[in-house]
Amino acid sequence: MPRQTIYLDHNASAPLLPEARAAHIAALDLTGNPSSVHAQGRALRAVVDKARTEVAKLAGAERDQVVFTGSATEAISQAIIGGARAFKADAIVVSEGEHTAVLRAADATGLPVKRVGLDADGLIKVEQIAGAIADADRVGMRILVAVHLINNETGVMQPVDRIETLVGPSPHFLFVDAVQAFGKMVLEFASRQFDRYQHCYDVAGHQCLRELQIFPCLFSLQIRRR
Ligand SMILES: Cc1ncc(COP(=O)(O)O)c(C=O)c1O
Repeated sequence: MPRQTIYLDHNASAPLLPEARAAHIAALDLTGNPSSVHAQGRALRAVVDKARTEVAKLAGAERDQVVFTGSATEAISQAIIGGARAFKADAIVVSEGEHTAVLRAADATGLPVKRVGLDADGLIKVEQIAGAIADADRVGMRILVAVHLINNETGVMQPVDRIETLVGPSPHFLFVDAVQAFGKMVLEFASRQFDRYQHCYDVAGHQCLRELQIFPCLFSLQIRRR
């Protein structure tokens, strides 16, 4: 009997749904610039707007909180490198369980990077983040904390609510790599009670069953507070 291969690594990238493929092919046939005011441009704008609305709905975000990027790695680089610069961060705190994209972006800031550990259950040691924040507060430093919501290798869901509570009411900045959560759990990004630009999530289309009907292939986005 011929051996059959069954692809199970949906956390790395999920198979394309037929309806997503059809929408992608249909979009490829459209010609125009969505910024143009003529009919073709407006037709393209409608496609992008529909994609934005669908993505925002899935992330529990407002439409204008969605920023499209070419991949999650790009969104992560923008959020961490750009965020560290914009917030004048003095140091970065990441966990040892972060995706390489997060670890590389943290190193690329050129700032000191502190790595907090994971416990035996694969959970981020939140008390080490609390300690880093307390140390920073003592000397008036601002830190950017970058953590993931769900681990791409172990599937462990991290205590991001607790980390948000620590970082939220402070002068520090939180970035959450939500790639493995998008489309699989309710994110409710918009209802998070944090200040302007203090909070940023990234998500990706190609890890979530590719169920979105627009531009399903390898798009990602960065979501930011207004
Ligand atoms: C948790 C996590 N973050 C970031 C990435 C990078 O995503 P991309 O391949 O879209 O750049 C992945 C990819 O699997 C991931 O699982």
